[in-house]
Amino acid sequence: MFSRIIGTGSYLPDIVVTNFDLEQRMDTSDIWIRERTGIERRHILPEGQSNVDMAEHASRAAIAAAGLTPRDIEMISYGTTTPDLIFPNAGVLLQDRLGCHGGPAFALEAACSGFIYALAVADKFVRTGSVRRALVVGSEVLSRIVDQNDRSTAILFGDGAGAVVLEASEQPGIISTHLHADGSYKHLMYCTGGPSHGAAPGAMAAGDFVRMAGSEVFKLAVTLLGRVVDETLAANGLQKAAIDWLVPHQANMRIIQAVAKKLSLPMARVIVTVQDHGNTSTASVPLALDVGVRDGRIKRGDMLLLEALGGGVTWGSALLRY
Ligand code: UT7
Repeated sequence: MFSRIIGTGSYLPDIVVTNFDLEQRMDTSDIWIRERTGIERRHILPEGQSNVDMAEHASRAAIAAAGLTPRDIEMISYGTTTPDLIFPNAGVLLQDRLGCHGGPAFALEAACSGFIYALAVADKFVRTGSVRRALVVGSEVLSRIVDQNDRSTAILFGDGAGAVVLEASEQPGIISTHLHADGSYKHLMYCTGGPSHGAAPGAMAAGDFVRMAGSEVFKLAVTLLGRVVDETLAANGLQKAAIDWLVPHQANMRIIQAVAKKLSLPMARVIVTVQDHGNTSTASVPLALDVGVRDGRIKRGDMLLLEALGGGVTWGSALLRY
């Protein structure tokens, strides 16, 4: 038994902040941001709207693309680092919006690898026959935990959501998933606040933001993502040429290019959306997947390699036949 992606969806909020807008606010430039990251704009969630609002849009689009109704969903696996509430978890809040009560619904936190983690967990539930249909979500409001005056992070991150519907299938489907973490790198990328940390219980204190040692993370990303790509191919006895599309985490164009080079894939076989929304953390892989599916580049039967690395560090990949 395998799980197969039968629908994709995504959502970006209406507010767009371009590199030129950032030039007005801080000591940076459009040219620096484009050359170092590939990012041209990012979307920011308006006040009064939440992570689950975006996830609901993306999920309804994925469910419709699958030709299902929300009541057909038996479980929700939701990757996020910026949930609406500490509890109920974001998966439960989304379940209630969709009206598919009763099955398991949870959120897991693995920073930018959150979608790959959430996908791997849901895949195992489907493969072992626990559920027939699962909704997998990555949704993130990084703008709320990024210091909008810090040029080392504010230029990078944006908000958005993506989702896929998995269904049990005798044909692959998701072929393999590979998850890793190494907490000894926890100091390279982290958020200073949390509910059990500091003086203000249940809240981030003023001044608690994402911190990142950018160039160290960059080098680690190139090394570890290169390694997981090799691991994925070796685990399945595949040559590089078997991959039709790389659907990478959209953090930095230069990291994406390095992984494509490792796979000897021309950039024309890589789904790149980083220019349009920057680093949306858990949302970035399903956002890119949805773009590639909807514009017709990714076709049924294509072999896809998904990969991501995030704070922790956590990293992972998924190999699948679409
Ligand atoms: O999603 C989780 C994974 N996260 C990532 O993958 C992010 C990985 N890291 C990166 O994408 C890159 O390291 C950054 C885009 C964050 C930075 O690029 P870099 O090429 O590593 O630049 P750098 O940090 O080494 O800084 C180079 C120079 C410095 O100036 P000096 O010391 O050479 O004079 C910085 O102060 O660029 C300066 N700088 C900036 N200049 C204009 C740093 N940020 C900016 C900025 N605008 N926003």
